[in-house]
Amino acid sequence: MSTLLNNPAKEAESSIKFVLLVSMVAALGGFLFGFDTAVMSGANGFLRARFGLGNFMLGWTVSCLIIGCMAGAAVSGMLGERFGRKKVLLAAAVLYTAGIFVSAISPNLEIFILARMIEGVGIGITSTLCPLYNAEIAPAKYRGRLVAMTQMAVVSGILIGSFLAFGVSSLGNDAWDVSTGWRIMFGAGIVPGLLFLVLLFLVPESPRWLIKKGRAAEALPILLKIHGEELAKKEVLDIKQTFKQDEEASIASSGRRFTPALRTVLIVGIVVAMLQQVTGINAVMYYAPEIFRQTGAGTSGSLTQTIMVGLVNLIFTALSLWLVDKLGRKVLLLAGSFFMTLSLTIIGFAFHTGQTDGPIVLICILVYVAAFAISLGAVVWVILSEIFPSRIRGLATAVATMALWGADFAVSQSFPPLLASAGPAVTFWIFGATSLFTFLFTMGVIPETKGKSLEEIEAMWENKHSEKQESLHPSLQD
Ligand code: GLC
Repeated sequence: MSTLLNNPAKEAESSIKFVLLVSMVAALGGFLFGFDTAVMSGANGFLRARFGLGNFMLGWTVSCLIIGCMAGAAVSGMLGERFGRKKVLLAAAVLYTAGIFVSAISPNLEIFILARMIEGVGIGITSTLCPLYNAEIAPAKYRGRLVAMTQMAVVSGILIGSFLAFGVSSLGNDAWDVSTGWRIMFGAGIVPGLLFLVLLFLVPESPRWLIKKGRAAEALPILLKIHGEELAKKEVLDIKQTFKQDEEASIASSGRRFTPALRTVLIVGIVVAMLQQVTGINAVMYYAPEIFRQTGAGTSGSLTQTIMVGLVNLIFTALSLWLVDKLGRKVLLLAGSFFMTLSLTIIGFAFHTGQTDGPIVLICILVYVAAFAISLGAVVWVILSEIFPSRIRGLATAVATMALWGADFAVSQSFPPLLASAGPAVTFWIFGATSLFTFLFTMGVIPETKGKSLEEIEAMWENKHSEKQESLHPSLQD
């Protein structure tokens, strides 16, 4: 340690390595979710045949996981505050691994659905606590990038899951897939689950949570590793100061947890979370092969195009990771939602005028996915992990993430009937309209949080609120 402290360059390098490693482990939680999404879309045809499912039961078999996710997100805030981020993430890894294992060996549909719900609880918890943990452990300068790693893990999971589903389904004939193939696809999920579980033992608890629980002595060595000696001591003081202010604010608001300023932040968080979903990304993720088939692509053509979607998603998520701390959250959201609106509008026109034979639909879908990946995909997780003041951070992140899963459920359930009743043109225009709303909402409401410490962001919301009060009631200030 002392040699490190004598050499600031070495010290900085080793702290970045440490934070990177810890964040990668935490981000693995996102991989589990992406992997499941892709495996499920590859396996659902075989499940339909194996369990004799009609449309309704198939929809339920796919989305019961999301119900579990909502439940997991709902309890994650409370559990994370009480037992700490690390212990609850460990529990989530156990639930996920046990759930996916039982789903792979389940003898009947009831057990399969139950196992997927348990797996979903694990995914719901990681979707809330992984970005939160990363935000709490990252230095402000790299926070966006490190939190966005969760999204990078989600899209890597989607891509690897689709290759696996494709590979397994080409191993044998249809009868083999229906009896065994799908079990291998789900069974493979045990590997990342166990890896996540084992690696979690190596990461430290969130230093912010430790300080909040009066365990600053345990937090200091972790902060030393992250920030180096000088900054670490300042961090401890800053964090303590924020909790003190939180307490004072809580007394001033007579113990009410949600003051008007906090209510505004919570609403902004919930809207941002829902916008990530109601702009249609999972309609494309879950049903891309179906959309491409409607444009006349054959089965193998539609599969290749689906893999192209996965690759574009991965490449532009990586770009977003690189840009989020350079250009800021707001610029990426504005650029992304602009191109999403544009591409969705054009797709709508292509279907409306029947001009879907050429490459236009494929190109526009790729532009849409790229624009989503660079903006809402990663940036929403970043915003959710940093805009809430520490007093309500765990709880508020959980509520917003639950809203995100609820919106995901609503979109993935309503997309097939909407497509059938209103047609593809109107369906894509609806997503175009929600993307336009995202653009306007970002412009008017979302503040830039790039490079600010979590404590500075907290102060920013309070200032905003008092400025608003001042302009509404100038006489009160005299
Ligand atoms: C985000 C969304 C998720 C979606 C994925 C696609 O992680 O939360 O629902 O499937 O992006 O890249």
